[in-house]
Amino acid sequence: MCGIIGVVGSSDTLATLLEGLARLEYRGYDSAGVALVRPGETWRARAAEGTESVRALRKECEFAPTGFASGIGHTRWATHGAPVTMNAHPHLDCSGHVAIIHNGIIENHTELQEQLESRGHVFTSRTDSEVLAHLIEESRAKGLDLTESVRQSLLVVRGAFAVAAMDANEADVIVAARRVSPLIIGTAPGVTYLASDVPAILDRATSFYAVNDDEIVRLAPEGFRAIDLDGAPVRLHQLTIDWDLETAQKAGHDDFMTKEINEQPDAIRSTLLDRRRRDGTITFDELRISDEELRDVQRVVIVAAGTSNHAAQIAKYAIERWARLSAEVDISSEYRYRDPVVEIGTLVIGVSQSGETIDTIQAIREARRRGARVVAVSNIVDSSLARESDAVIYTRAGLEVSVASTKAFVAQVAALELLALRLAQLRETIPASDIDALFQGLNAVADQVTTALERRASVEDVAKQLLGARDFFFLGRHVGFPTALEGALKLKELSYLHAEGYPAGELKHGPLALIEPGVIVVAVATDPALHEKMLSNLAEVKARGATVVVVATDDDESIDALADYVLRVPATEPLFTPMVDIVPLQLFAYTMARGLGRNVDRPRNLAKTVTVE
Ligand code: F6R
Repeated sequence: MCGIIGVVGSSDTLATLLEGLARLEYRGYDSAGVALVRPGETWRARAAEGTESVRALRKECEFAPTGFASGIGHTRWATHGAPVTMNAHPHLDCSGHVAIIHNGIIENHTELQEQLESRGHVFTSRTDSEVLAHLIEESRAKGLDLTESVRQSLLVVRGAFAVAAMDANEADVIVAARRVSPLIIGTAPGVTYLASDVPAILDRATSFYAVNDDEIVRLAPEGFRAIDLDGAPVRLHQLTIDWDLETAQKAGHDDFMTKEINEQPDAIRSTLLDRRRRDGTITFDELRISDEELRDVQRVVIVAAGTSNHAAQIAKYAIERWARLSAEVDISSEYRYRDPVVEIGTLVIGVSQSGETIDTIQAIREARRRGARVVAVSNIVDSSLARESDAVIYTRAGLEVSVASTKAFVAQVAALELLALRLAQLRETIPASDIDALFQGLNAVADQVTTALERRASVEDVAKQLLGARDFFFLGRHVGFPTALEGALKLKELSYLHAEGYPAGELKHGPLALIEPGVIVVAVATDPALHEKMLSNLAEVKARGATVVVVATDDDESIDALADYVLRVPATEPLFTPMVDIVPLQLFAYTMARGLGRNVDRPRNLAKTVTVE
């Protein structure tokens, strides 16, 4: 997830770009850069200093030449290529005249780069984005104008993009286009803007327009013209924007948590993009570990904390089921101090959104000291965890601002389950046709999550009716158990109410003593194989006076007799259910917390990244 901005026709180009980038830092800040054009000349500055990137860029621009009426800027959230200056946008073509910025992922960049290099193009970054600059360069060399060059280039790329391109030989226009990644256009008299998000240009533009998928927009000082990928004219929808800056950064939502909950389908889609070759092989570009080594793995140990630990627990079921490998999950802070056994062939996976959680870093250090190969699963490119591991898989959930993790969780489950499928593929433990079907199923989950999100109002209704409750038990079986743990964690950390997650079958071994009228039992009951057992467990709590809330699939009528409230979700393959089932539980916790007047983005006593033991 990156932030992009562009302006044409301004007398204040550089200031507009730098100001906009500062407001887009919440989309990512691994590096930042700008390019300016005037006839015959392109000027570029870039900086990669983590959270200080925009400030460092400002310094780089102190002595920038003046008189440029067009410019583009980018703040980067690295996906392909380390967060270093070389990979910072804008990227240039071989002539240095064409400059592009890109947010998204070009899935077929490897093959495009090979083709371009064979035709003599020289690449100067390790990003997937740079291919766009060279593709545009080729069309420009054939005499096509910039708009047509961008259109031709987009016909050959696969993936997601919001892209903007300039050329010093057509200096009075910028051409921008979108597929999946967000893009808006803004206008003011004599000046036209583009941005990934409204805040970047909120106080400069007076009218705003939404660009849809596969639309290309030619921006000039006097306004813009839009076409579709076939070149046919299209009209852009005008947006009504009456937000202040803070609301705008939350994309119109009340808080970052709502924004991030709503971004979950995209987090899953981005994490799965570009992960399968044409021959069906599942691939992780950034996984620096050979197929032979993965094939030789005898045992998997996953270490993680909090929400990441719950994602890890779900992965355990998938690795065992599909790859037939023994898998165990440990709490990071426990692993290091319990003298763990690391046999030959042990693969340790460290899972951490931030990649900076000290407990998880210490755990993987311990594992490596004892001879394990370590794979990091991290949302932050080049995080400490990623750097200290032998290999890394990045979740691509985008920057998570709210302290309570939501979109990072579903992205972790998607990435880990994909790794489980890769292990199964290498070990040939399930037929190729089943892997294909599971891969398709995994790709369908984002839409099922969208459906679950659309049912927000019915979850809110239930939560509002239970606002006075103080004690909650979350129950589940199989992967419903870690889902229940995650639902309970969300409720306790956001609302400060007492909530426990339990395997449903374990309740009768002690905790059932706590069940009495007034206690709320929230059950995850979407696994058909264990459904009858779940119904028995619910009958047990119901008989003792608990109020029962059940997460159940659309077609499940048997639950109605037992449940006081049902939160419906679309059905999916059992191992994928956590990504869908967690949605009503997140919304439930959120609504309870808001109802109790809590600050959902910053719960008391907590920090987003825990760097102390
Ligand atoms: C809960 C939450 C925490 C984190 C935990 C690990 O909503 O966010 O439990 O999951 O602190 O953080 P990472 O994944 O950054 O290692």
